[in-house]
Amino acid sequence: NEGSLWGARFAGGPSPELQRLSKSTHFDWQLAPYDLAGSRAHARALAAAGYLDPGELDRMLAGLDALEARFLAGELVAADSDEDVHGALEAALIAEVGPELGGKLRAGRSRNDQIATLVRLYLKDHAATIGRQLVHLIDALAAQADAHRTAIMPGRTHLQHAQPVLLAHHLLAHGWALSRDLERLVDWLKRADVSPYGGGALAGSTLGLDAASVARDLGLAAPAENSIDGTASRDVVAEFAFVAAMIGIDLSRISEEVILWNTREFGFVTLDDAYSTGSSIMPQKKNPDIAELARGKSGRLIGNLTGLLATLKALPLAYNRDLQEDKEPVFDSVETLEVLLPAFTGMVETLTFHTDRMAELAPAGFSLATDVAEWLVQRRVPFRDAHEITGALVRHAEQHGLELHEVDDAGLAAVSPHLTPEVRQVLTIEGSVASRDGVGGTAPVRVDAQFAALADRVRHL
Ligand code: ARG
Repeated sequence: NEGSLWGARFAGGPSPELQRLSKSTHFDWQLAPYDLAGSRAHARALAAAGYLDPGELDRMLAGLDALEARFLAGELVAADSDEDVHGALEAALIAEVGPELGGKLRAGRSRNDQIATLVRLYLKDHAATIGRQLVHLIDALAAQADAHRTAIMPGRTHLQHAQPVLLAHHLLAHGWALSRDLERLVDWLKRADVSPYGGGALAGSTLGLDAASVARDLGLAAPAENSIDGTASRDVVAEFAFVAAMIGIDLSRISEEVILWNTREFGFVTLDDAYSTGSSIMPQKKNPDIAELARGKSGRLIGNLTGLLATLKALPLAYNRDLQEDKEPVFDSVETLEVLLPAFTGMVETLTFHTDRMAELAPAGFSLATDVAEWLVQRRVPFRDAHEITGALVRHAEQHGLELHEVDDAGLAAVSPHLTPEVRQVLTIEGSVASRDGVGGTAPVRVDAQFAALADRVRHL
């Protein structure tokens, strides 16, 4: 078992079936730059503790740098016989600097503390990328809201017309949800910013290595306080997968609306050609595929999270090989979001909103009924009665095929003496929206204030 990390106590090499099962280089190879960074930090700690002399440290670091250059040039690839990225890189280092020196690097560390550290480094980098992508999307939603400050649309509950709202208010609602996902990502970093390096297989090391300096070298805030926890926990990976799934779910909610709004029946938006697709048979088709893929991929992101949680459930301490199964799902979540978010942002940035159509439908479905009820309350009619009177007005209008503002004076009076002709003042969508001026309401003054508040929130994360 030449070149393997653990051959000596075995009479023969592993079976080909075991090798195929055990192998992880096809997915953990992308951790190579982090493994090399860990090795550099570890080599310095070994030198500081007197296990490498200064000349050896220099040659070791030069060897690791050479491997990194070859990796970046795409020239360093795992051999078929390599089990994982750690073994492959040790074999490559030995080839680079010789077995005498190369064989010294493994002292005081284990693949268990290595892998637990590397996955954190990988996720930290990608959290920064995904965070930037989220900021772009929030900006795109805010820019569309800004471009449509006065447009009014039908606000819905139960997908039924409920009350008119500003389109900007609706778009910013999605922006706020995404700002919390960004906040989750930033907050995740507090728990991720820990280095298990030095924990060894599970119990720590006898060699007196400075784990804090390794952590510092790797840009992590501190070493793990408990070597068992450091090597065996993956809650930080699961939490990342949760944030990724939540982002997916928030995108899927926007997606569902874009898909509906883009139908002939709604007619609220037109997608830009560059962000929609055609049909191979129906020449007229222009489909919202980005929104559909986002909706579909949210299922995949949820699957990655649930798979990971199932792997962790009831796993005894400390390291178990099951933990190797943490990487493919979370790598997939990262790759999925990093491809999805830029396309999604492009779709949002280039949406054309048909605000006339939205305004036309905004009062339909008696969506101003609540305004009538609250107008009555302002005239000191108890809300219970106001609700009854307004319900009767809706029934009257429906029976006569009228909208609320079309009911004549006699019709109003027949429903209730409280319904004087002045009630028509609140029966416009502009009046309705402007009157909802409490904190968080859809009145233009309140919505205007949200832009700065949202930008401020995102900037301070
Ligand atoms: N490849 C493993 C993982 O991804 C790390 C190696 C630990 N292997 C072991 N036999 N202890 O978790």
